[in-house]
Amino acid sequence: MFRRNYQRIALLLLPLLLAGCNFNARQSFMDPKGIIAQKQYDLFMLTVWVTAAIFLVVGGALFWTVWRYRERKTDDKDTLPSQSHGNPMIEIGLIGVSVALLVVIAVPTLREIWFTHDVPDDPESRLGTWFDGETAENTDDEPLIIEARGWQWWFSFEYPQLGITTGNEFAIPEGKTVKIELRGEDVIHSFWLPKIAGKVDMIPGRNNYMWIRSDEPGYYYGQCAEFCGESHAYMQFRAKVLPEEDFEKWVAQRRTAPPAPAGEDWTDFMTLSANNPEALPDNDAVKGARLFFGKGTCIQCHAIDGTMAAGKLGPNLTYVADNHSLAAGWMEHDNPDGSINREKQLSNLYEWVRRSEDIKPGNLMYYGTGGLENVDLSDEEVHQIAVFLQTLQ
Ligand code: CUA
Repeated sequence: MFRRNYQRIALLLLPLLLAGCNFNARQSFMDPKGIIAQKQYDLFMLTVWVTAAIFLVVGGALFWTVWRYRERKTDDKDTLPSQSHGNPMIEIGLIGVSVALLVVIAVPTLREIWFTHDVPDDPESRLGTWFDGETAENTDDEPLIIEARGWQWWFSFEYPQLGITTGNEFAIPEGKTVKIELRGEDVIHSFWLPKIAGKVDMIPGRNNYMWIRSDEPGYYYGQCAEFCGESHAYMQFRAKVLPEEDFEKWVAQRRTAPPAPAGEDWTDFMTLSANNPEALPDNDAVKGARLFFGKGTCIQCHAIDGTMAAGKLGPNLTYVADNHSLAAGWMEHDNPDGSINREKQLSNLYEWVRRSEDIKPGNLMYYGTGGLENVDLSDEEVHQIAVFLQTLQ
């Protein structure tokens, strides 16, 4: 009876185990798309093959010995088999083989550790000269710098050279070395973009660095990889690797303000909104913008570049409607062809503002100081805010 249940449970757990075997799942390190991930993968596979060979040889020797020296019917039960202790040649040989295998693993391991820690073309680089051959294909100019910050439970990405800040989704150009400076703003988080590079911790009060480069344009999925509180599992991010010219376009767009909801520029909109709201068009986007800047208290924490919204405690919302996800990667609105599903996006924006406390337990947009917990918004007002946010594209 017990045995039967045991087998059933094992059978039920099997799919869970096998679910881990998807080699090109979107967060699989076994499908590398960048030089760092590729080198880490190669090193991992080398170690796997060496240890697999050791396992087969040692396991095989054990089985052979047990089989070869098993008790036989013809054995005399009263006398001990001949006893022997030690064999200097085998012992020295095994030590030699072990040392050789450790060296086989250690040399490339140290090499890759230095390689991943040393940003190519970085003026501060000390080891770069070691890897001239490896990094010769890099562009000669300085790396693109991104300051990545972990917050409970989302990511911000700042480009100090370009004057751009994004929340949860960021872009990098194809084939360009990108230096990422990592820090936690509240607790320890970890930045992990499996197809591009291994994880590095984001620690408050201390800068960690890593560099990445991807030669394959695409949309890559990242995850916070250090337990950081109740919504740790919902703390994701995305990286867009764009061809050079698309990246230039993205930068140009990100450096201009998104359109104001009524077609005027933002200064006119804010002036009219304050002094003569009746003169504004009577539509949901306008009403939503007025709630965003007013009663909704959104601007305490969120910024929209080019407007008076300059909050820094929540994700920067400039062009938030260009994102393929919401709530740090947790609510998705992709079409199967990779375009944005606008209908789903609108409903995600609505759901997120309406009931973020259910979607992401403990989130500070709801529970934080001045959070939505204390703001009384009707369903219609939430809809208007969602409509406004969707104009930011
Ligand atoms: Cu942030 Cu886990």
